[in-house]
Amino acid sequence: MRMVSQFWCFSLPIKFGARGRTNVTVAALASLFGKEVLVGIDIGSSALKAIQVEPTRDGFRVIRAAQQKTPVGAIRDGVVQDRDAVANAIRQMLKAANITANSAVIAVSGPTVFVRQIQLPKMPDAAMKRSIPYEAGRFISSNVDDSSIAYEILGPADEDPNLLNIMLVAAPKEMVESRIAAVERAGLDVVSADLESFALIRSLIETQYARYNDGNLRALVDIGAGHTEVTILLGTRFQLTRAVSIAGDTFTDALKNQLRVDVAEAETRKAELDLNVLIQGSDNPQDYEAPRAVQNVIDELLREVRRSIVFYQSQLPEGTPQQNISEMILAGGSAQMMGLAQYVTARLGLEARVGDPFENPGIEAAPEAMQWLRTQAPRLGCVLGLAMKDFMGTSHQVK
Ligand SMILES: Nc1ncnc2c1ncn2[C@@H]1O[C@H](COP(=O)(O)OP(=O)(O)OP(=O)(O)O)[C@@H](O)[C@H]1O
Ligand SMILES: [Mg+2]
Repeated sequence: MRMVSQFWCFSLPIKFGARGRTNVTVAALASLFGKEVLVGIDIGSSALKAIQVEPTRDGFRVIRAAQQKTPVGAIRDGVVQDRDAVANAIRQMLKAANITANSAVIAVSGPTVFVRQIQLPKMPDAAMKRSIPYEAGRFISSNVDDSSIAYEILGPADEDPNLLNIMLVAAPKEMVESRIAAVERAGLDVVSADLESFALIRSLIETQYARYNDGNLRALVDIGAGHTEVTILLGTRFQLTRAVSIAGDTFTDALKNQLRVDVAEAETRKAELDLNVLIQGSDNPQDYEAPRAVQNVIDELLREVRRSIVFYQSQLPEGTPQQNISEMILAGGSAQMMGLAQYVTARLGLEARVGDPFENPGIEAAPEAMQWLRTQAPRLGCVLGLAMKDFMGTSHQVK
């Protein structure tokens, strides 16, 4: 089934250099001698994830899924530093889950990735290609030559049909190329690179288009290990994404420093703590120790989320009615922290919940597989969206 949806899916294959010279040959051979079998691969700083799906009449069936610890220190600021170690870990992960794909969809994210909707006058394609790096150069602090730049024309602007709305994305070349290289060394052809936030929107929001197409403002907050990605949506439509450097590693550090324990113990305490005691109280004073150790950094993260919302609202054209966030959807491994959604709800006075992409009748899996997927659900949203990408097309947003 090809889902025709109004959400624009980003597709960055060629401009991101995803098909290098050697890969074109591999891809051509794959299409000559066999089918291109895709797997979504999420290269996280703490865990690698892989998912393979097949389309069904009503959505998708997950046929393979796997997770593997990222080799310690192999990824820094989103760049794969140790390509061989990551390649080996990917190979192991695919082998353990019996994934025999020959092609992969990957993603980039983080504070060094730039995403923004811009407007440019209508112009011929060649002129547009020449203008884009110049436009990108106005926004990004690093050298344009060191960036992989991609864009997609969304359509004419509402206020002036001679202007085009364009989604502009730029990521450090080093980040994109190191990720592609690691996946290639694991024996896969990288067919496209996406943004993690777009992949998450695909699996959590776009697959439930009717539910979310309500014009409400929502924040999707993906709290990983190295960073948190705050994405603002209006109904199903992407508005902005912003990376914050507070995430799971920050929580672990806070526990390590304040409880004077080592990293392993801090991780254990993090997995066992329950933030509900900060709201409901507890008779046992010990129950407060770990939650209090992380409370400050969680509050700081929530302030950053608020800042993103205020920034979004400040960018709206004058006269646009200000909308409050109707709901916050938490994702990423750190969303599994006990009581986090309840704490956010109490702290910000809005409904917060952990998003589960498998809580969707359109997503199927064998019962045993589904049981495992549900236990890992918050951290699998991104990789599921990557796996779905090619089946959902790259339609432009239709106004
Ligand atoms: N039950 C839990 N309670 C609290 N934190 C948890 C729990 N389970 C996992 N985490 C944390 O989730 C984080 C990993 O999440 P995730 O897999 O989404 O990160 P990642 O994708 O590898 O990182 P990033 O996207 O930042 O590169 C780790 O910091 C881990 O400690
Ligand atoms: Mg992640």
